[in-house]
Amino acid sequence: MRLLVTAGPTREAIDPVRFLTNRSSGKMGYAIAEAAVDRGHEVVLVSGPVNLATPEGLTDGAAVESARDMFEAVRDRIDGCDAAIFCAAVADYRPVKFQEEKIKKTGDSLTLELEKTEDILGSARPIFGFEGVLVGFAAETNNLEEFAWAKLEKKGCDLLVANDVSRRDIGFDSDRNEVRLFFANGRRQSLPAASKSALGAQLVEIVETLVAERGRNDGMME
Ligand code: PMT
Repeated sequence: MRLLVTAGPTREAIDPVRFLTNRSSGKMGYAIAEAAVDRGHEVVLVSGPVNLATPEGLTDGAAVESARDMFEAVRDRIDGCDAAIFCAAVADYRPVKFQEEKIKKTGDSLTLELEKTEDILGSARPIFGFEGVLVGFAAETNNLEEFAWAKLEKKGCDLLVANDVSRRDIGFDSDRNEVRLFFANGRRQSLPAASKSALGAQLVEIVETLVAERGRNDGMME
């Protein structure tokens, strides 16, 4: 199969030396991409800025900085993919105005006006016209199950992978993770704490099954 994976954080520039970002290291997304290459798949990796070696054997890839860059890189590469896994921690907001020159420390406080970024996962079905298996992630600190079901439905996903990012031992920037899976058919599954490499391999296997099931269903419709 051909699989697109997004990974890492995005950076939303405030001025030439400052940006808004988050704690994503890219480890989870890279582990998925590496597992998929190891299992013989064509892998397209769209990555935000990370300190990780580019996995060997990628079919295509793009190194991006901002949510807008990531949106464009995904838009230009998703066509022809059998599945897409959106593991990146994309900034939800960016500064409305990029200050061309470094902001000076003049007042006692500074207010930044922010605007929504492009919703890349939410664009997959309506804007990119993606018909393959769509997998979103959900990084939650509370009400994980409720938020996961809501995201699954709103974004048109086949599978939502939810992790609890209030914990320090898993999630952001850890070598390990623990995830709960929510499927579009209402099924749930938990993958217990393990290395991101091991979880990446499990997730790729699950996505292989979803792609095969979709192929069978499409065949029955013809
Ligand atoms: O990178 P690591 O340090 O290994 O950490 C892994 C991780 C915690 C980042 C990863 O497991 C994870 O949870 N990734 C999703 C992070 C996130 O941004 O979740 P969210 O609940 O805010 O977003 C929901 C989904 O929408 C995600 O699939 C996200 O990629 C996508 N999204 C979000 C905002 C946006 N503007 N566009 C998007 O496509």
